[in-house]
Amino acid sequence: METAAFETDLSLFKYDNLEQLPPAYRDLTEEERTERIEVALDELGDDVVILGHNYQRREIVEHADFVGDSYQLSTEAAEADADYVIFGGVTFMAESADIITDDDQTVILPSMEASCPMAGMAEALQVDAAWAELTSVTDDDIVPITYMNSYADLKAFCAEQGGLVCTSSNAADAFEWAFERGDKVLFLPDKHLGENTAFQLGMEDSTAEWDPWDPESDAESAAEADIILWEGYCQVHERFRVEHIEQVRADHPDANVVVHPECRREVVEAADVVGSTSTICETAANADPGETWAIGTEIHLTNHLSRWHPEVTVLPLCGDACMDCNAMRQIDPNYLVWVLQELVAGRERNVIEVPPEEKELAQVALDRMLEI
Ligand code: 13P
Ligand code: SF4
Repeated sequence: METAAFETDLSLFKYDNLEQLPPAYRDLTEEERTERIEVALDELGDDVVILGHNYQRREIVEHADFVGDSYQLSTEAAEADADYVIFGGVTFMAESADIITDDDQTVILPSMEASCPMAGMAEALQVDAAWAELTSVTDDDIVPITYMNSYADLKAFCAEQGGLVCTSSNAADAFEWAFERGDKVLFLPDKHLGENTAFQLGMEDSTAEWDPWDPESDAESAAEADIILWEGYCQVHERFRVEHIEQVRADHPDANVVVHPECRREVVEAADVVGSTSTICETAANADPGETWAIGTEIHLTNHLSRWHPEVTVLPLCGDACMDCNAMRQIDPNYLVWVLQELVAGRERNVIEVPPEEKELAQVALDRMLEI
């Protein structure tokens, strides 16, 4: 079975049951919102659990039962026994929750326009084409690994080809798992996380890039490398440069720097600590009062850390140039009010339902990750 059977369009929004916020919900004040959310949650009780990614806005995070990184949220979803999992995050995260939860549980993504651009950089059609080219020029076994930041069809593809999923917190373990079973790794879609992981494993001299948009991409030279990196990236994290770290250290000589592994190799190299969003949270939480930490990740998380740890000086690594994630931003808190009030009225809105044939395979790739 080829992934092209699942998804043949190059499209940003994967689901066509997307509903927009009704006008009556667009201008609620924070007070009105909070009151409505509390009333709805009282009514719904244990039927609902709200999961929030670390990059969500304060108004979402404050109502979440659990806030964490992609890996933690996938394990929370697996353990949740609520009928409804409301996911404050992006489409690929809600898809993973749908794959992991039981069939009688429903996953709701308040705004289905929350689509991570990096996940859209490895479309099934492109991956099928690349796979056909790469496997035709080598007898070595290639094991595909996809970062969690990818759609379910790609996770299904990886399972089918003997590979798995990883997150930013277990990428090195996933690579080791793959090298125990094959000769080479094709890592998608984030070239920076792939390169940083290759470096962590001492394999930085054995990588090649595969650009799906370049008709000149040369399969033979790519397949000579042990690690083939898909040319995808996160624009929020690519923005950080070594000069930002130098500037922060010049302005604040005591500053420490923590960055996400989606940052460029040289930025990760220059930082004091690198890790997933939960590692970044722990780093700030464990800092001694008076310490200064510059944070190289999405700006909402930096702002949360500054609020949560007033005893620590928390700085955005590139100042005003730090970006928010425009996919995460789509989860407007008014959407949260709407989907909750609709559930109280017995209506399910913006449900993420991965097609069954994709779901079964993608589950295999996620299970392999949860077992490493
Ligand atoms: P984490 O897995 O570290 O939460 O990161 C997810 C993400 O989208 C980073 O851009
Ligand atoms: Fe995707 Fe980057 Fe947003 Fe993470 S921060 S969800 S990788 S666009």
